Amino acid sequence: MLQRKIGGSHWETSAVALGIMRMAALTPTKAAEVLDTAIESKINFIDSADMYGDGKSEEIFGAALKEANIARDQFYIQSKGGIVTGDEKRYDFSKQHLLDSVDGILERMGIDYLDSYLLHRPDPLMEPEEIAEAFDLLQASGKVRHFGVSNFNPEQFQLLQAQVDQKLLINQLQFSIMHTGMIDYGMHTNMTDTRSFDHDGGVLEFSRRKKVTIQAWSPFQYGFFEGVFVDNDKFPELNELLAKLAKKYDTNKNAIATAWILRHPANMQVILGTMNPTRIKESAASSDVVLTKQEWYDVYFAAGNDLP
Ligand SMILES: NC(=O)c1ccc[n+]([C@@H]2O[C@H](COP(=O)([O-])OP(=O)(O)OC[C@H]3O[C@@H](n4cnc5c(N)ncnc54)[C@H](OP(=O)(O)O)[C@@H]3O)[C@@H](O)[C@H]2O)c1
Repeated sequence: MLQRKIGGSHWETSAVALGIMRMAALTPTKAAEVLDTAIESKINFIDSADMYGDGKSEEIFGAALKEANIARDQFYIQSKGGIVTGDEKRYDFSKQHLLDSVDGILERMGIDYLDSYLLHRPDPLMEPEEIAEAFDLLQASGKVRHFGVSNFNPEQFQLLQAQVDQKLLINQLQFSIMHTGMIDYGMHTNMTDTRSFDHDGGVLEFSRRKKVTIQAWSPFQYGFFEGVFVDNDKFPELNELLAKLAKKYDTNKNAIATAWILRHPANMQVILGTMNPTRIKESAASSDVVLTKQEWYDVYFAAGNDLP
């Protein structure tokens, strides 16, 4: 399994990670099978968020850890917080909310620390000084080791980084063959077509320069959770090429779609969302595939893109 040094630190983890957003739908026994498969596949990084399944994903994860008899330190465990759902709806980075969020996560998962905790989506009412207090308390109490953000643009990132003592190691962002805004606009600089729109303030280049690890979420989805592009008749050209490359590398389409993200020199991590053990193994096989530059571009073209 390819390894990644997270945020330029000495913390090294698997390049392919498993997200548990969809774990709420599983029984603890099925979830235990999923975790066992992750370990067999050399995936040692788990991504969660306090809001997944309204907390149920983390409860099932905690039960599955016990059922599979997996020791806490066999995984690096990350979760996210700052989104309020249910009767109320807002983003909330207030100190008390973040402290409560982490306590809730630890209790549901049945663990006593998180390897990393991310702020899930930028809160326009964020007060960086207050977040800094929360991070200090969480770190000093031993409840959280590392910190990061998710879906932040560079200005939001810098605003926060200027106040917190801890280096923000991670920014989790949507990126896949079918969601390439982070690279499209760079190739269309100073043009007037829609691909020239910079949707994120240059977050890819910023992250590379600052050595922030981008965690690519939803690697097999198109749109905003519109569906899976792998084996989808809506994308015949792309699937034909994925199949051809899968044959060449003696692997499968999910592995090629994952390898396409891993091939980018930003050294991203990929957060898989599948809860199917076979697909977890298949996607982890991406670690053995290094696409050529031309293959990487050909996949980009097959997804409906072109060069200016
Ligand atoms: N930071 C954020 O804002 C954010 C947002 C969303 C997600 N995330 C993180 O990213 C992780 C991954 O997100 P995701 O679940 O949307 O990612 P994904 O891996 O792109 O999608 C997983 C879904 O696609 C299905 N799937 C995958 N390959 C398939 C295939 N070949 N044929 C048919 N179905 C296939 C899976 O079904 P099966 O389970 O049946 O395989 C599952 O329902 C989440 O768990 C979460 O940790 C973060």
